[in-house]
Amino acid sequence: MGAGRFITFEGGEGAGKSTQVARLVERLRAQGIEALSTREPGGTPNAEALRKVLLEGLQEPLSPASEAMIFSAARIDHLDKLIRPALARGAYVVCDRFADSTRAYQGGTLGTAFIDGLEALTVGATMPDLTFILDLPAEDGLKRADLRRGSGKVDRFESETIEFHRGLRTAFAEIAKNNPQRCIVVDATRHIDTIADDIWRVVETRLLKAHS
Ligand code: TYD
Repeated sequence: MGAGRFITFEGGEGAGKSTQVARLVERLRAQGIEALSTREPGGTPNAEALRKVLLEGLQEPLSPASEAMIFSAARIDHLDKLIRPALARGAYVVCDRFADSTRAYQGGTLGTAFIDGLEALTVGATMPDLTFILDLPAEDGLKRADLRRGSGKVDRFESETIEFHRGLRTAFAEIAKNNPQRCIVVDATRHIDTIADDIWRVVETRLLKAHS
């Protein structure tokens, strides 16, 4: 009990996070490990309801601070009801986006002190054991997101300016630089299988072998 591990995937739009989350969970399960995949914003019924509010738009835009707080409210529900209980029973939790997304997406306008405080209140000690930051140029990611969406509607963040998306890449690089023990930057321009193999090697060395 209590031997669970928490792994998150981060990056800009269209970086291929959800594919890599699914690949990793598959590989962990093939080793006989209880592994579950989840996402943010979302992961629990309440947090999925807040996801709709955050991504599908409201009558008028939220202020940056209230947007960050709603992402955090969704995160608290997710942590309390799904992530912490799973970790406590020894499962691996693999999450598509987590607190680093708030820092990268909302932090630009709110600043470090606000985000540090909010993160401490929201996440506390439940920071990920390992975070993969899938890195690629903003233009490439947006192109992929366009293809994936087809004729669907762009969401709140996909419709941001190219400068905003370029800034995200810089913000994630900064997070990786400040958290070298936890964060691994992965070149996401490569083939899906190559990326999955790289990620698996890191998980094997850093978590499976280290704790066997
Ligand atoms: P999603 O469809 O999951 O996007 P992606 O496939 O790129 O992960 O939508 C999540 C969006 O919400 C994405 O644009 C990033 C944004 N987001 C924040 O702005 N702050 C946050 O704290 C989180 C978790 C996500």
